[in-house]
Amino acid sequence: MTIKTIATTPFDDQKPGTSGLRKRVSVFAQPNYVENFVQALFDSLEGFEGKTLVIGGDGRYFNDVAIQRAIKIASANGFGRVLVGRGGILSTPGASHVIRHHGAFGGIVLSASHNPGGPEGDFGIKYNVGNGGPAPERITDAVFARTKAITAYRIADVPDVDLGQVGIQQSGDMVVEIIDPVADYAALMETLFDFDAIRAMFASGFSMRFDAMHAVTGPYATEIIEKRLGAPTGTVINGTPLPDFGGGHPDPNLVYARDLYELMMGPDAPDFGAASDGDGDRNLIIGRGRFVTPSDSLAILAANAHLAPGYARGIAGIARSMPTSAAADRVAEKLGIEMHETPTGWKFFGNLLDAGRVTICGEESAGTGSDHVREKDGLWAVLLWLNILAVRKEGVDEIVRGHWAEYGRNYYTRHDYEEVDAEAANALVDDLRARLPGLVGQTLDGREVAYADDFAYTDPVDGSTSAKQGIRIGFSDGARIVLRLSGTGTVGATLRLYLERYEPADGDHELETQAALDDLVQLADRLVGIRRGTGRDAPSVIT
Ligand code: G6P
Ligand code: ZN
Repeated sequence: MTIKTIATTPFDDQKPGTSGLRKRVSVFAQPNYVENFVQALFDSLEGFEGKTLVIGGDGRYFNDVAIQRAIKIASANGFGRVLVGRGGILSTPGASHVIRHHGAFGGIVLSASHNPGGPEGDFGIKYNVGNGGPAPERITDAVFARTKAITAYRIADVPDVDLGQVGIQQSGDMVVEIIDPVADYAALMETLFDFDAIRAMFASGFSMRFDAMHAVTGPYATEIIEKRLGAPTGTVINGTPLPDFGGGHPDPNLVYARDLYELMMGPDAPDFGAASDGDGDRNLIIGRGRFVTPSDSLAILAANAHLAPGYARGIAGIARSMPTSAAADRVAEKLGIEMHETPTGWKFFGNLLDAGRVTICGEESAGTGSDHVREKDGLWAVLLWLNILAVRKEGVDEIVRGHWAEYGRNYYTRHDYEEVDAEAANALVDDLRARLPGLVGQTLDGREVAYADDFAYTDPVDGSTSAKQGIRIGFSDGARIVLRLSGTGTVGATLRLYLERYEPADGDHELETQAALDDLVQLADRLVGIRRGTGRDAPSVIT
């Protein structure tokens, strides 16, 4: 085999964000852009000679191009084998499982998650380590440093592999095995959930709509929900992955999954509605007439997980990202288990999961998952909900209200200001940070500030620290204002404002969310000055 060494020059913008390197397709399409990044990645890893690498993505535009290049560079750098999902497809949780199940050295996941795809859309490359989870910062920092110094990459001078056929091929000296993207994952789900009980529920007329948003979960949901669980054909909609997601925005929130939301709030609503995002790690859960916020979903899943066979022995602990509401904390308290608050980004859950200190994790950004893989998992959340519904024989709305009646309700909303001027956004955050020490102890609009800080995290397992993870202003009545800059945007900056207040178990749980939080919205606006600082009158997205 011929291995070519190609001279190259560094790009200065290859810094991985919250979830890998994410840019417009036009950026990735520049000559050597993918090659530089993949070579910089391999240069930052040690000991993979002869080992297995997993490669797959969410099927978006450029997926196949990037995969063929990554395979040839992996071959030239000495990997022994790569496992690739047929058609280049692997959902993010699916890839995490394949890495773990096959004992791979690591994996490359090609995805820009919930961002739009197509020639004008976004693309992304993320590296996951041998535990199946996103690479820790120590690795992503090393990759970034390497991208700034790279002078050459190595690539096998061999033909493309055929991604369409399951089976074994060669790429130079390296074995390429094309695998069924769904099989291993579906088998794992069968070990966690009571498929018989869910099948019986569907057989007795339970109705559901799952919107795959023309993204990667289509084949997974069709196989599991329709084929294995017996839901009628048509339960899964938009089930064929398309390179541009059918022109849609594959983010399962109330803005981009509007049709599903309207169906679920209307007279013809099925019993259960759900959706997942571009790469299959996020979830949206809506019962008939009842949207379940991701923060509430985490709390409810944690409180009921023991009803599923995979968690029948109980859960060890719960972790949530800092901006996620404190609803799950109340469940952990009641169960007498560990509760952890981590920075935004699934990678921060990895050590806690590996150490067996937590079993279930979740984020306000529509991610929930468990120790079965090391990524959040959209379909897993849907299946756990189905398992709970099948056992409790109650509707989603009943379960949610019952939860509030027992634990109280954390009213919660997130206001996003997208694509604002990066300098203005940074200035706002810096300015607020400087004023934090003076806020503690003050009473603002009748609420006493209990703490005001810039969240810093020390990992209890390896002692690593992460500073400046978002500003928190907490009040003595349990209300919170959180402000942080998104780490996943591709253009300008996105400011996220998170608002929360607690209503006790015997309080009023029937308020409209925005109305319930209106006084905090006003206070936050005065404190932070987002409107003044960005020139925006209103958030671009409210969830
Ligand atoms: C990705 C990560 C999540 C994170 C989310 C929001 O989906 O996998 O862990 O919560 O991005 O990140 P952002 O920095 O945009 O708020
Ligand atoms: Zn995603």
